[in-house]
Amino acid sequence: MAAEKEILLSGSRPTGQQHLGNYIGALVQWLELQEETHAYFMVADWHALTSTYRDTSDLRSNIREQMIDWLSIGLDPEKSTIFLQSAVKEHAELNLLLGMFTPLGLMERCTSWKENVIERGNDELRTYGFLGYPCLQTADILVYRAHVVPVGRDQVEHIEKTVDIAEKVNFLYGDVFRVPRWRLSKQAPLLLGTDGRKMSKSYKNCIYLAESADAVAKKIAVMPTDPARVRRTDPGNPDKCPAYEYHKVFTPENRHPEIREGCTTAGIGCRDCKKILSDAINEQLAPVREKRAALENDANLWRDALEAGNAKARRAAAATMEHVRDKLKLWP
Ligand code: TRP
Ligand code: SF4
Repeated sequence: MAAEKEILLSGSRPTGQQHLGNYIGALVQWLELQEETHAYFMVADWHALTSTYRDTSDLRSNIREQMIDWLSIGLDPEKSTIFLQSAVKEHAELNLLLGMFTPLGLMERCTSWKENVIERGNDELRTYGFLGYPCLQTADILVYRAHVVPVGRDQVEHIEKTVDIAEKVNFLYGDVFRVPRWRLSKQAPLLLGTDGRKMSKSYKNCIYLAESADAVAKKIAVMPTDPARVRRTDPGNPDKCPAYEYHKVFTPENRHPEIREGCTTAGIGCRDCKKILSDAINEQLAPVREKRAALENDANLWRDALEAGNAKARRAAAATMEHVRDKLKLWP
């Protein structure tokens, strides 16, 4: 008999269109995880509100864009449960209950609280909701009885808090929660923005999954290269070239030597070199674009997928909450 698959939960705040950095950094790993585990992927819209509560006008379109990106790269609602946090009210109930057990100090020790509120004195974020961010995240995880949460380094402290809170409740009330563990995401190759800085929306240096092949080629064409390679006849150094970093990620490995050689001997020009690169990126994005076209055409496709995921998530969450209420001797 095949071993039961472990339950995995991961999520991200809906920030709108996903870029190649998100794709290489997390999404590609999610595609593997959805094969290996019983995976839940959550659009964390309540978490988005903790910092953008003043203006929610982008929230719905961000959810839509995130869903379309997720589905078009191949997250598959048949294989995993893709759902919206706010559609499963059990997260709110569990968040409230966990609040009774969560020491203020545990929340105040959170890096983002310390940095934003204490050090920078950002009073916009001095809210109950923002302080409780890790408690809500704990509810997200425990309500699905997740065994494992894949995270980047910056999220480890949140999962440590999840473990603390779950163990405290288990100590007081017996076997209430499954205590999860985190799994550090494989160190993804760092994909910098097209200007060589960190890829980030605010720097306007992103390549988005939703962009056309033409738009990608144009952005690659104006990327900086080895600054020492001024003329076509100057040899270049790929290790000093941001475009070459992209080759490492997107161009089939067997072509790397020829590109290196061409660059260091001035055998190829940057323009040809970048053409190879944008072709490689576009080849990988071709099936993604095909799925996207269908999803853009028919809004019911992503909505139905999300509704189905919400329903599956609700069933699992409701079962956990029955157990929790029972253990805590609350009204059933
Ligand atoms: N805090 C996570 C982030 O910013 C998003 C998130 C919310 C999450 N709930 C979660 C991640 C539960 C993992 C598990 O990326
Ligand atoms: Fe960069 Fe390619 Fe130009 Fe070399 S040839 S500097 S690797 S773009």
